[in-house]
Amino acid sequence: MEKFLDTPNLDVYFVIGILFLFTTLEVVGGYWHSSKRKKEDWYIEMSSFLLLSMLTKPFIVFSVFFIGSTFISSAQYVLQGSNFWMLFVQYILVDDFLQYWYHRSAHETPFLWKLHRAHHQAEEMGFLVSYRNAVLYYLLMPNIWWIGIFTFLGGAKAVILGLIAKQLVVISSHSTVQYDKFLYRYSFLNPLATLIERIFVTPAFHHSHHGKSKLDGVSDPNGNYGNMFSIWDQLFGTATFTRDFPAEYGLVVTTKDSWQSTILYPIITSTDSESEVSKNHQRQKTVLNESSVQLEKGQKYLWCSCGFSQSQPFCDGSHQGTKHKPLLFEAQRTGKAKLCACKKSKNAPFCDNSHLEA
Ligand code: FES
Repeated sequence: MEKFLDTPNLDVYFVIGILFLFTTLEVVGGYWHSSKRKKEDWYIEMSSFLLLSMLTKPFIVFSVFFIGSTFISSAQYVLQGSNFWMLFVQYILVDDFLQYWYHRSAHETPFLWKLHRAHHQAEEMGFLVSYRNAVLYYLLMPNIWWIGIFTFLGGAKAVILGLIAKQLVVISSHSTVQYDKFLYRYSFLNPLATLIERIFVTPAFHHSHHGKSKLDGVSDPNGNYGNMFSIWDQLFGTATFTRDFPAEYGLVVTTKDSWQSTILYPIITSTDSESEVSKNHQRQKTVLNESSVQLEKGQKYLWCSCGFSQSQPFCDGSHQGTKHKPLLFEAQRTGKAKLCACKKSKNAPFCDNSHLEA
C-alpha cells in the first residue's frame, strides 16, 4: 500500500476518477437531463471547485510549509518512518473532527453562515453541490490547514489515502445516485445498512441535512453535520437517522444574489438588500407579545424560538446562523391556541404570560 501511495499525483488521479465516475452515474441515471439547475448554479459550483483546487488548497499547503520551515524546521518530516496505519487513523479522525465543528459553527454563527449559505441554496442534490461554498469558507477551513500540517510533519501518504477515502464518502453523500437505497430495500441487508450509517455519512443521512424543513419528518437542517463519519453527530447529540429522502431541498428564505457575491462575499456583496450577503444586512427581531393561531389536530408545526421569523409565531428558516433551532410540535386539538411570540415562555410553544413580567 505504501509503495502504491508513492505514485506521483495519485490523489489527483483519484479525485478526477471519482468525479468522472459520479458524473457518468448521474448522467446515465437521467439526473442531468431532468435537472432544474440554473446557469448561476453551474457558475457557483464550477468556479468554487476550480478556486478550491487550484488556488485555496495549494495556497494553504504552501503557507504551512513556508511558516513551518521558517519557524519550526526541526519538526519537518518528524513523522516519517512511523506506522502508516496509525498515521492514517490519526490524520482522518482529526480531520473529520475539525470539519464537524467547523461545519456546525457555520450553521450557528452569523458570519460563517454567510460563507456556507451557498451550499444550502441548492434546490436539488448532486455531487457538484459538495463544492458550493464561498472562497473564504474554504480558506478558514481548519481541516484544509490540517492537510498542510500533517504533510509538513511527514504524513503525506496518510493524507493522500485520507483525501481519497473522504472524497468518496462526501461526493457519494451529496450525489443523486443514493447507493444506500439498495441496502434499505431488502430486510436481510438492514443490519449492514445500520452498521454503515452508524459509522459513515450515508446519502440518506446527509440529504436530511439539506432538506428544506423538519416538518417533512425526514429533514434536519440543524443536524447531521458530519462529513465522513456520523460518529461526531452521535457523540454531540446532532444525529438524525432516516432512510427516506426529503421531498424538497434548499432554504425557506430565498434571495436574489449574483453568483459572484455568493462565492466572493465579503469582497463582493449582494445588491438584494434582503440578502444576508448584502452590505448592511441586519437580522431584525420580529417578536410580539403573544400570537393566537388556528391549529388543526394531528398537524405538525414548527414554532420559531429565535425571534427572527417573518411568519411569527412559526419558523421560516431565519434562525440559520444562530444557535437557535425551531421546535417541532403536533397539535393535540383543533382550535385557537395562544403561542408564545415573545420567546420567553417556559412552556414553549405555548404562551405562559412571561411577556407580562417586567
Ligand atoms: S425562524 Fe426558525 S426558529 Fe426562528
